[in-house]
Amino acid sequence: MARDSQFTIHDSWSGRPGRSCPLSYRYAPVSLAREPELIADTLYVVGGLYGNRPALASVLALAAADTGRTAMVFNGDFNWFNVDPEGFDYVNRTVLEHVALRGNVETELAGDNAEAGCGCGYPDWVSDAEVGRSNAVMERLRDTARAFPGLRERLGLLPLNLVARVGSARVAIVHGDAESLAGWGFSQEALENPDQIAKASHWFEEARADIFASSHTCLPVACELPGGRVLVNNGAAGMPNFRATQHGVITRISATRVPAASSLYTIEANGVRIEALPLHYDATRFEREFLDSWPPGSAAHLSYYARITRGTDYGVGQAIRRHAGPIGSIRQKPLRQENPT
Ligand SMILES: [Fe+2]
Repeated sequence: MARDSQFTIHDSWSGRPGRSCPLSYRYAPVSLAREPELIADTLYVVGGLYGNRPALASVLALAAADTGRTAMVFNGDFNWFNVDPEGFDYVNRTVLEHVALRGNVETELAGDNAEAGCGCGYPDWVSDAEVGRSNAVMERLRDTARAFPGLRERLGLLPLNLVARVGSARVAIVHGDAESLAGWGFSQEALENPDQIAKASHWFEEARADIFASSHTCLPVACELPGGRVLVNNGAAGMPNFRATQHGVITRISATRVPAASSLYTIEANGVRIEALPLHYDATRFEREFLDSWPPGSAAHLSYYARITRGTDYGVGQAIRRHAGPIGSIRQKPLRQENPT
């Protein structure tokens, strides 16, 4: 994903499909300062499944292996590549058996207004060509979804965010950022900017959150902020995230002190372990299912096939950030990295 040196996030509706966030996507950070709706000893946050059926099978098996009071939240965009009716039906029926939030994809599937395109709210560092292809993927997915009015209605009823408590830590679970379903304020690109770090710290105060768990922006980042606050973005559960890999990433937050069987990196704060877990799935099957729907030359093939088969240019070390001390004199040092890539 190419970046410009100029950093611009579109946060208001300007009528450009795929670039803007409709007003209905927005919420106030202070709205997250509410009583938790979910209490767990171990919480899995699964964002960006993108219709990957083998990845869905893997995440269900992973969570089932955890003992104790375990919860799993699909925080949006569990649909994307699953434009075949069977895949659409299976993914949605399965995910909707669990706690789920609407991502921009589900929100656009539930509604009849196509003006927002894919609803991704893409910033300027994403090319027009890529945004156009995302809108094209969304159109095919809309066509499929029209045959499933019952599922569309259920998607439209899903919440935009959720507040959980794990141990004594308050966890605000969102799809985008603290202000918008499709916000990019928790993207690894935005978090390179000290002004955005300061803004994120303010969001923690407004939401009374110890941890924010997000997704949407397709690349993982784990960011420790002053005061022991932690922002963790899992990137994508259903696509490779890192260089030369073919696994997804999910977030595990646990008060049990029992670590996951394997993790990419870990932060310990507020009495909980916050881990980025590799989500291994049957990559051969996923590639076959992807090609069945998205052959060479199709929009999704052009945008995602290389990533699905070879990973990204992003390294695990780039995802790990620590900002200690007062905002404005930020310094970084590496957190514990358990499986360098
Ligand atoms: Fe999204």
